[in-house]
Amino acid sequence: MRKIELLAKIHDREGFDCGSELLNLFLKQTARQHADRGISRTFVLVDEENATPQPILGFFSLNLCQIKSEVLAPEEARRLPRDVSGVRLGRLAVAKSCQCQGIGKTLLVAAMEKFVEIYNTAGGIGLFVDAKDQYAKRYYEQFGFVPLPANEFELFLPLSTIQEALTSSS
Ligand SMILES: CC(C)(COP(=O)(O)OP(=O)(O)OC[C@H]1O[C@@H](n2cnc3c(N)ncnc32)[C@H](O)[C@@H]1OP(=O)(O)O)[C@@H](O)C(=O)NCCC(=O)NCCS
Repeated sequence: MRKIELLAKIHDREGFDCGSELLNLFLKQTARQHADRGISRTFVLVDEENATPQPILGFFSLNLCQIKSEVLAPEEARRLPRDVSGVRLGRLAVAKSCQCQGIGKTLLVAAMEKFVEIYNTAGGIGLFVDAKDQYAKRYYEQFGFVPLPANEFELFLPLSTIQEALTSSS
């Protein structure tokens, strides 16, 4: 059975390849250091039946973020104080051999669930993500992420969209 786990030593970081060297390197060299220092947390999707080191099918990382509400669309910004907090989906990647099988979607739903855990404890207006190119931007948009007015490659998934998505997927 597949499950989402916090990145740990038993996971095969070296064997992971999503086709983007920057994302591969983040997983291999940076993700655990960032977790140790409280900068971000990385979660991996693994198949429980596999022996150790467990192959990583995909991963995402999350960190807390502060934003100025003025960067949001005016109808969102109007209802908010000047400084608000959210959660940033810092990285999302799926192993090349497993792409286009719905794993990216599984990871996004898991990231939304993690967001809700944070929201239930400390609030947060939604998830933010930086898309690395047009392809990634279109990928996020199909899940309801909306580009910020000043930078189309920074996208926002509001709390209300997350709640609706999780209700319809449960
Ligand atoms: C982008 C990435 C995470 C997507 O993961 P994936 O597991 O291959 O994608 P999924 O199988 O979950 O795709 C789900 C749906 O999105 C569709 N889709 C995929 N990419 C799309 C795109 N760019 N635009 C529109 N739709 C897209 C799929 O066809 C699928 O639709 P369906 O459910 O109707 O068949 C993965 O391809 C990847 O890791 N790429 C390299 C790293 C990267 O670019 N990461 C993004 C960082 S900004």
